[in-house]
Amino acid sequence: MNKNIVILGTQWGDEGKGKIVDCLTADSSYVVRYQGGHNAGHTLVVNGKKIILHLIPSGILHNSVIGIIANGVVVSPSALIKEINMLKKNNIFISKRLFISNSSPLILQYHIEMDIAREKKLGINALGTTGRGIGPAYEDKIARRALRMEDLKNEKVLSMRLEKIVDYYNHQLVSFYKQKAIDYKTILKDLLPIIDIVHDMIQDTTCILHQAIKNNKKIVFEGAQGSFLDIDHGTYPYVTSSNSTIGGVITGTGVGPKDLSCIIGVTKAYCTRVGNGPFPTEVFDDIDKHFSNKGHEFGSTTGRKRRTGWLDTVSLSRAVKINSISSLCITKLDVLDGLHEIKICTSYKNSNTLESASFPEGDNWENITPIYETYPGWTKKTLGVKKLEHLPHEARNYINRIEEITQIPINIVSTGPDRSDIILIQDFF
Ligand code: IMP
Repeated sequence: MNKNIVILGTQWGDEGKGKIVDCLTADSSYVVRYQGGHNAGHTLVVNGKKIILHLIPSGILHNSVIGIIANGVVVSPSALIKEINMLKKNNIFISKRLFISNSSPLILQYHIEMDIAREKKLGINALGTTGRGIGPAYEDKIARRALRMEDLKNEKVLSMRLEKIVDYYNHQLVSFYKQKAIDYKTILKDLLPIIDIVHDMIQDTTCILHQAIKNNKKIVFEGAQGSFLDIDHGTYPYVTSSNSTIGGVITGTGVGPKDLSCIIGVTKAYCTRVGNGPFPTEVFDDIDKHFSNKGHEFGSTTGRKRRTGWLDTVSLSRAVKINSISSLCITKLDVLDGLHEIKICTSYKNSNTLESASFPEGDNWENITPIYETYPGWTKKTLGVKKLEHLPHEARNYINRIEEITQIPINIVSTGPDRSDIILIQDFF
């Protein structure tokens, strides 16, 4: 029986997946990023020191774990090098234990320029992207014109293809967006020293993973973003450009569904969203201040203030179904400490017809009003609690109610930012 675990977000990203990945990879051999790019931001606190990873899987912090950036990830070579250097400074060395798929599409300067120019042109209708070139890079992949990691291995072909693609983008950047033209030679010049460093990391990662499965190695698949930022299942068009739901694991790695034994959905004890788009349970004023300040709700990639809200179990239950989630993990429970009362959204109603409404498909979010159950909060701290029975009974009731609504067991509760602030209810390996 394989023991491979998927860890993915059930909200709009920033659920605290990095810490859970870090915790569960301690007992695994491989950790795999399968979608997204350096738009992600996984914050980990190790021995009081904060480390933020955007592209390299968080599990790499364990010295014996092999990290894989699989084919579903769009890779910015400059962001990759920056991260490798940051890890080195923190005495974490990735030599011979980080591999990147041949087929991963590259993010280059023209993607970033396009991303920023488009957002600017959209004005108040901007999506609120991270400005990392993610959307344009995935467009190139689907349009079958992307440069991929494998292209870095042949300088002559790279130079030729780069010249053509930069020409294509310059036409749009200059004529339509009124931006400066990009010189492909500058991109090439910046790429050459990077190629020397990453050359041997570029591999057939699908093959590496199949071999690992054959050898009964334990693999953790590390999701980025969250289910409702998924290009197909999210709150379109306010989404990212990859499949952050379970399908992304399969297409993004070449590992089939029967090799995934456990799918853990990570949810905050409340909700956040960074960027624009629907957010039915959004709160403002004092409750927002409480979540923001106590939960440090500022984006780890862009530094933007995150919007905050109560836990939404309508969308959570939808995430459970879309992803075949077998186990839930609640993070940041301690952020609820000190609140007089706590709300859970258990259904939606249409504010025009006053009839109950299901999770809207498409853009019918405008008239959605959340219906709440209200529970007493707790005054005793949950921060740093390591055993379920040591939680205040109101906090346990809150957890039980979420289990009851979603019909999925909560097997992990995170009670603070540090690696050790965790209640592990089930052993996954
Ligand atoms: P993009 O992925 O940069 O194209 O941004 C599209 C949307 O996804 C924007 O609303 C971003 O704020 C959001 N987004 C992308 N990555 C993350 C993440 O890691 N956490 C939270 N939101 C994200």
